[in-house]
Amino acid sequence: MKKNLLVIVFLLVLAALLVACGGQTTQAPTDAPTSASIVTEAPTEAPVALSGDPIQGGLLYDDWVKVLGVDAPTDNQPLWGTQTTNTRSGKDTWRCKECHGWDYNGVNGAYGKGSHMTGFVGVSQVAGTDASAILAALKGATNPDHDFSSVMDDQALTNLALFLNDYQFDTSFFIGADKLATSGDAVNGKNLFYQNCSYCHGPQGLSMNFADDSDPEYYGTIASDNPWEFIHKARFGQPNAENMPSMVDLGLSDAEYADLLAYAQTLPTSSPVTEGGRLYDKWFAALGVDAPAGDQPLWATQTTNTRTGADTWRCKECHGWDYKGVDGRYGSGSHQTGFPGILDAAAMSPEELTAWLDGSKNADHNFSTYMTADDFARLVAFIQKDVFDKSTIINDDKTVVGGDATHGKLLFDSVCKVCHGTDGKTFNFGSDSEPEYFGTIAADNPWEFFNKATVGVPGEAMPAGWNLGWNLQDIIDLLTYAQTLPTK
Ligand code: HEC
Ligand code: HEC
Ligand code: HEC
Ligand code: HEC
Repeated sequence: MKKNLLVIVFLLVLAALLVACGGQTTQAPTDAPTSASIVTEAPTEAPVALSGDPIQGGLLYDDWVKVLGVDAPTDNQPLWGTQTTNTRSGKDTWRCKECHGWDYNGVNGAYGKGSHMTGFVGVSQVAGTDASAILAALKGATNPDHDFSSVMDDQALTNLALFLNDYQFDTSFFIGADKLATSGDAVNGKNLFYQNCSYCHGPQGLSMNFADDSDPEYYGTIASDNPWEFIHKARFGQPNAENMPSMVDLGLSDAEYADLLAYAQTLPTSSPVTEGGRLYDKWFAALGVDAPAGDQPLWATQTTNTRTGADTWRCKECHGWDYKGVDGRYGSGSHQTGFPGILDAAAMSPEELTAWLDGSKNADHNFSTYMTADDFARLVAFIQKDVFDKSTIINDDKTVVGGDATHGKLLFDSVCKVCHGTDGKTFNFGSDSEPEYFGTIAADNPWEFFNKATVGVPGEAMPAGWNLGWNLQDIIDLLTYAQTLPTK
């Protein structure tokens, strides 16, 4: 498709050139008849060929604020006030997709009902029309309240116009009213998934949760709940994930999108163990809620750990990254609390574990005000399946048992490097004076590293190793390599 556009742009430029040449060379006897006929057919108005990047246009349509890295205007988009059915406000009101839909059909499509309903027109009718006229509409020519030229530069608007002109995609031939793929070869879709998506999204599409853990959204969730969004993102990529490929760029055929969707809709939409692991780490960040005010009631029963507030509510702060509480790493140092570990709890029944979480066992150990039965089920799944004695793989001096750094590097390069950088120093989790990099965590707190590498980081769409299909030995290898990376 991109190639097609380039050809069209090229032809338009050529036509414009020929028009120009034709005008100047009327005296030249050798003038080719074809150019003469173009001259007569296109007298004064040579079409202006817009040039730009329609793929970026597709990303801008999704979320131009994210793509351009700018602040969203503080007020609602002026046209927003002309509707009352969609109660979102602020940044969302400026997204093209929020008014015109992932299916480009506005009120006549999926956004014709539900919480996203606005009643606004679609944009599918402008496909194939004059790109300059589309550009003008984005600058307010048809409605002054539809002027985006104060928030985006001309090139961005041009890219949007090129996207709308030539890169919209009518998915109605393979998405039914019930959102299910009506055609499409799931077997081929699986191949496409393994070639293009699974190395980041994991063999089951579960490696990254794009939403809060209270209502997780995985690759398969989006494919089933919002197939139009899924297809749009598959085609253009993801605004804040520059490394996610665009399938338009890679030249997927129309039918192949149907295949990709048909398979994606068979993938699972929950992952209790890794979700539970993120809750254990920092449940309020994972659930996207504020930490409770004040200290956890049991906190006052100790005096050695001087932290206050949110930290006192983290499971890991009392029970440790090694799950051994006072009998492990948190038996000394600034994190020392004296609380018990939970290694033995791995053998408890779900009922007994839940009784620990909802206060039945100890009224001060009650999290039911903040977490649902589903959340408890996730914590139970994590404790039962993932809580084990790590001394078999991590020595007291923090070195790792039996790791293969060469294989670890392969794993690091294939997934972690993209975000954390070749030396693991792209993000500093500490402060300027006391930096904490990927390598620092691996060296100083391999137990914490283990948790994050296997279940992910609460509130971040960071891949969870378990859901990349990695096994225990893979994590040991990764950790061994991570300990060779710079710590400052
Ligand atoms: C707040 C809702 C809203 C947002 C955000 C919005 N539009 Fe629109 N758009 C409209 C409405 C309403 C119209 C019809 C305006 C009119 O002509 O009165 C429209 C018209 C259009 C048209 C002309 C359609 C036609 O048939 O002529 C295009 C093209 C368009 N929008 C593209 C975009 C793009 C691209 C973005 C993102 C930069 C965007 N819109 C953002 C509400 C919105
Ligand atoms: C190089 C890594 C990478 C590859 C390959 C990749 N993605 Fe993604 N994708 C990401 C990242 C990172 C995010 C989420 C970023 C965020 O939201 O913070 C994401 C998000 C998504 C989302 C959801 C976005 C949302 O916010 O709801 C969809 C849908 C998606 N990808 C589809 C695909 C499809 C389809 C493929 C293959 C055709 C694919 N991805 C290949 C990295 C990748
Ligand atoms: C403020 C410190 C603190 C926090 C935070 C905390 N716990 Fe506990 N936890 C304790 C104490 C103390 C006990 C033992 C209580 C008793 O014996 O009555 C305990 C007991 C348990 C037990 C039973 C262990 C056994 O072997 O009998 C489990 C399971 C447990 N906690 C899980 C969690 C989970 C999951 C979280 C996070 C949602 C959490 N705890 C948060 C202090 C804490
Ligand atoms: C899509 C981008 C992305 C990828 C890929 C990624 N991470 Fe991360 N990672 C993040 C972000 C974002 C943070 C949080 C940064 C912050 O808190 O400043 C983070 C934080 C971390 C932390 C430290 C968290 C803390 O607060 O101490 C560890 C450990 C980590 N990642 C390990 C990994 C491992 C192992 C891999 C490869 C399996 C990986 N990451 C791949 C984005 C990513």
